[in-house]
Amino acid sequence: MCGIVGFTGVQQAAPVLLDGLTKLEYRGYDSAGLAVRNGSSLAEVVKATGKLRNLAEKIDGGAALKGTCGIGHTRWATHGEPTQTNAHPHVSGNATGSASGPVESDVVGVHNGIIENYEELKAKLLSHGYTFYSSTDTEVAIKLVDYYYKKYKIGPIDAINRMMVRVRGSYALALMFRDYPGEIYAARKDSPMIIGIADGETFLASDVPAVLRYTRDIYYIDNLQSVRLVPGEAHFFDLNGDEVPMVSTHISWDAEAAEKGGYEHFMIKEIHEQPRAVKDTLASLIKDGGIDLSGAGLTDEILAGISEIRIAACGSAWHAGMAGQYVIENLAEIPVRAELASEFRYKKMLIDKDALVILISQSGETADTLAALRAAKARGIRTLAIVNVVGSTIAREADNVLYTLAGPEIAVATTKAYSAQLAAVYALATKLAFVRGKIAASDYKYYIEELQAIPDKISHILDDKERIQWFASKYANAHDVFFIGRGLDYAVSLEGSLKMKEISYIHSEAYAAGELKHGTISLIENGILVIGVLTQGELLEKTVSNMAECKARGAYLMGITSNGNYNVEDSVNFTIYVPRADENFIASLAVVPLQLLGYYLSVARGLDVDRPRNLAKSVTVE
Ligand code: AGP
Repeated sequence: MCGIVGFTGVQQAAPVLLDGLTKLEYRGYDSAGLAVRNGSSLAEVVKATGKLRNLAEKIDGGAALKGTCGIGHTRWATHGEPTQTNAHPHVSGNATGSASGPVESDVVGVHNGIIENYEELKAKLLSHGYTFYSSTDTEVAIKLVDYYYKKYKIGPIDAINRMMVRVRGSYALALMFRDYPGEIYAARKDSPMIIGIADGETFLASDVPAVLRYTRDIYYIDNLQSVRLVPGEAHFFDLNGDEVPMVSTHISWDAEAAEKGGYEHFMIKEIHEQPRAVKDTLASLIKDGGIDLSGAGLTDEILAGISEIRIAACGSAWHAGMAGQYVIENLAEIPVRAELASEFRYKKMLIDKDALVILISQSGETADTLAALRAAKARGIRTLAIVNVVGSTIAREADNVLYTLAGPEIAVATTKAYSAQLAAVYALATKLAFVRGKIAASDYKYYIEELQAIPDKISHILDDKERIQWFASKYANAHDVFFIGRGLDYAVSLEGSLKMKEISYIHSEAYAAGELKHGTISLIENGILVIGVLTQGELLEKTVSNMAECKARGAYLMGITSNGNYNVEDSVNFTIYVPRADENFIASLAVVPLQLLGYYLSVARGLDVDRPRNLAKSVTVE
């Protein structure tokens, strides 16, 4: 989704803003722009479509845009095409908005999110003499602030607050007012925005990596709060315009953690960070030989009283939830249903009052997952967030929070955060099983040892990645790929298929192996690649049979299995082995070759691995 940066201080703003936008590139974008002002001069706006380098070239890397206060934006188009006119910043005046240069307007701003009632507001503004040059909802929001600012002759905070009361939807807004040189105003609802202060300068950004090089003490802007930024200070206000205290959160990640560290892409770096991500997450939950969830506020009494579990999440986080559904039911014998957050949020939610709703999210900002959380809370159901980003909205609003310790994840395609989510879910399942008397103390010990063995086993798979690289080069021109598996192998298939399609743009589908014959097998023809995940002892022979049916129709078969399992090599064309592990936890191993396959296919096809087309790292709109 869109990225916002802001800066007011001593040094020149444009290079700081460009650097911040570079750190937010992972969020996905199709155009970019800056507005910078020098003292009381007019704000100067520059915009460009395409990559950030197009914008940087226009302003000589920032040197051509003078001023110590400014805002910047990378736009992921929602309303209106990715043109220069629709690119942000937008202005309150009746300018063309597409031109670069000084703007006469009283308000200049950037926005992330969606203003749902923008058409109604636009009609109102048109009737008051405003005209519109872009197709964006952002231009409407900025002109609405300008309208209140002038109509009531009030200050920026009051004008922004009136706007917040009037608009529906989600937004993070950063604005500069012509009458207030050296100041930036920000406000948000359901779209993240953070502030950092260092050495007499103030930084604003959509996400932490943009400010990490300056400070690790972060101030999160709360929902429906507005903020006035001046050099070295920030002042927070509630919807009544009353100043409220600001609270800082210390981020343990260092700036290097969000750099490539010698790897060609963030994704391959993050794939290699998985042993550490899993180890750190487990280490935070396993103490003195037992699983301790007290850090998440989950006492044994709470865990023993849970009657059913719903897991709501999106994309890969939902896939982690799917794996959790099998593992929790298997070990703890509690009914679990993993649901897409975008569906769950609109359901009647016929859930027992003693249910637990688990939200899984790397960013902690995904709009549908956040809405699912709020819907569950509104019905008085206990919510547990499994989240990676400290201080994110989902983490702050959930009743209980279990942090994954994957560190900053930059590549759009998640790998280490997904693996850390699996680790957290396994620990929860094991603890639930023990507390509820479903496993004996000896089994509890065994499962904990199995969990602790996962990181080294992932490292072992990574040591042998060249075979997968070779296979990827062979299949770089594939058009359709099918992933099949049963039980937990189906959950892994879902993730393997998403990894492939999102970064290699090869069409792929994941099927529960038993479903293949109910329609999809008609798509199998000569040379189509079918990948079977074959780690579940009691189910894998059945999946192998389904693969044989595909082979009989011309498919090429790849199987992922663990040593000692049924002789898979006799049935498939290409076999990948992962180390042996307890079958409840082996998804953590089986997924790694599939992550590598997706990565190497993307590289072999010459694609932008870390920033796949049309995708955003954190989906903060519905
Ligand atoms: C997967 O590679 C994607 N990045 C995507 O499916 C992601 O998992 C989904 O958007 C959920 O994001 P979240 O974990 O930040 O909530």
